[in-house]
Amino acid sequence: VQVVWYTAMSMDGRIADARGRLDFLETIAGRDEALAEFPKFLSGVDGVLLGATTLRWLLDGGHGWPHDDLPTWLLSHDDGLLERVGATRASFRQTSGALAPVLDEIAAAGVSRLWIAGGGNVAAQALALDRIDEVIVTIAPTVLGAGPALFDGDTGPSRTFALEECRALAGNAARLRWVRR
Ligand SMILES: NC(=O)c1ccc[n+]([C@@H]2O[C@H](COP(=O)([O-])OP(=O)(O)OC[C@H]3O[C@@H](n4cnc5c(N)ncnc54)[C@H](OP(=O)(O)O)[C@@H]3O)[C@@H](O)[C@H]2O)c1
Repeated sequence: VQVVWYTAMSMDGRIADARGRLDFLETIAGRDEALAEFPKFLSGVDGVLLGATTLRWLLDGGHGWPHDDLPTWLLSHDDGLLERVGATRASFRQTSGALAPVLDEIAAAGVSRLWIAGGGNVAAQALALDRIDEVIVTIAPTVLGAGPALFDGDTGPSRTFALEECRALAGNAARLRWVRR
């Protein structure tokens, strides 16, 4: 399974502020232009992996789980979370512990392109296993100073990616795409 970390971050590499808020994305001048590319990305993935903090942020904001048409794997120790998600169209599985067997399970389920929907903690675990194939990131034109990093935690040995795309986006933002070498 190909693993893609697609997200947005600040100039200093934070995916949320210190309180876990995403208000910084409003600094992007042409938000509609930045968001317009997301559906195309989404149509190319067939599974989602996410961590408990990202899901809690969505649920606390009243968003529910917006991608319930895609088979989803949640990493969490919190047994109350599944109940809060409720019914989903595609499978929604909660798991915990080492990530490597979870990625094996996802591959065995037939997923070919997996989106890590968040957050930095889960992305760091995947990078530590050298299982990040692609990083697609929008950089918003502001600095947060604190908050979860794009890869947050022990990322293991240093890795290098090949830059496949680097362009100005939505007036004052940038879009970068790196792939595993
Ligand atoms: N900029 C963006 O577009 C974007 C996108 C996504 C997320 N975000 C933001 O990023 C923040 C969340 O990122 P994050 O790095 O703090 O957290 P995260 O990766 O979403 O979740 C981390 C949490 O997931 C659970 N977890 C992770 N790995 C596990 C494992 N192997 N086994 C069991 N449980 C595991 C643990 O919580 P428990 O032990 O409590 O279960 C852990 O504290 C939120 O503020 C969110 O809003 C931003």
